[in-house]
Amino acid sequence: MPDLLSQLEELAAAARREVAAAADERALEELRVRLLGKKGELSAALRGMGQLPAEERPRVGEVANRVRDQIETLLAEGRARLAKAKLDAELSGPPLDPTPPGRQLLPRGHRHPITLAAEEIAAIFGRLGYEVASGPEIELDWYNFEALRIAADHPARDMQDTFYVDSKTLGGAQPPRSVVLRTHTSPVQIRAMKRRAKPPVRVICPGRVYRSDYDQTHSPMFHQVEGLCVDEGITFADLKGTLAAFARAFFGPGTKTRFRPSYFPFVEPGAEVDVSCSICGGTGRKDGKRCGTCKETGWLEVLGAGMVHPEVLENGGMPKGVTGFAFGFGVERMAMLRYRVDDLRLFFENDLRFLGQF
Ligand code: PHE
Repeated sequence: MPDLLSQLEELAAAARREVAAAADERALEELRVRLLGKKGELSAALRGMGQLPAEERPRVGEVANRVRDQIETLLAEGRARLAKAKLDAELSGPPLDPTPPGRQLLPRGHRHPITLAAEEIAAIFGRLGYEVASGPEIELDWYNFEALRIAADHPARDMQDTFYVDSKTLGGAQPPRSVVLRTHTSPVQIRAMKRRAKPPVRVICPGRVYRSDYDQTHSPMFHQVEGLCVDEGITFADLKGTLAAFARAFFGPGTKTRFRPSYFPFVEPGAEVDVSCSICGGTGRKDGKRCGTCKETGWLEVLGAGMVHPEVLENGGMPKGVTGFAFGFGVERMAMLRYRVDDLRLFFENDLRFLGQF
């Protein structure tokens, strides 16, 4: 038995020497396996325990446990020493240069098709002298409805039912129902006029809008682009020329436009504007069959427009006598027609097989 005990003590002493000499993590790991592994030296020594008289075994077992603990502690200290040495070497070595370009481990992304369409629309109007304006998505009822002549009991509110923001969450400053998620980008007309204070005002306003709709062609959130041009002597002819130029730039040089009388409380006169179908070229027929996109009419309804109502100009703080036109369209619809996408929901599902095509 003294044999076995001294063998164990010798094991601990050898471990101390060898851990101190280990040059790297791998050497330490090999050492651990050699000393403490199933087929290691400690196990081998303990195999002799079977031959000992029963009363001596507890004592030897105790020493064996202590030696194992010692070796484990030595190994942990060894690892800590190596890690510190490595860090010290790094810190005292040449400094790390964080400026080289990345290695592009991930493929580079790109903009969403809705963003692409909105940016292209804004760029076309940019070339016509428009600047980009924006307003809040959580909007006061006054900007979204009242200032645009949509009174609380006006039937036009039905078509633009929306989400009302609980005034309590806003500190209760406003009367109930006076804060909404904006239903269109038209409130930016008022904000842009007030901000600029005097004509000319020429802005394009892309942004998110909300309505309580949800089906195949409507989502509760969608995007619009608003346009507003106010100055002395602006006429309906300017509106027609501007939108015709835009349609040609966006859908292609052969694109025609058509104006149909329509009603929006904030314009007078008002119109709905159609462009010749970009899918069938305005013929209503495609590959000998009926064109489903324009339902064989050859025309696509794309936007609302009109001459800004004098009361709206006044609400925006414009001087008497100036005139202007405004228009607004849905970006999803423009993107669907431009990129030939047949289901609006594809824009919001974030399926990379779809998005990767743009
Ligand atoms: N705001 C209207 C809508 O969302 C569109 C529009 C804008 C109509 C500007 C006329 C002038 O339907």
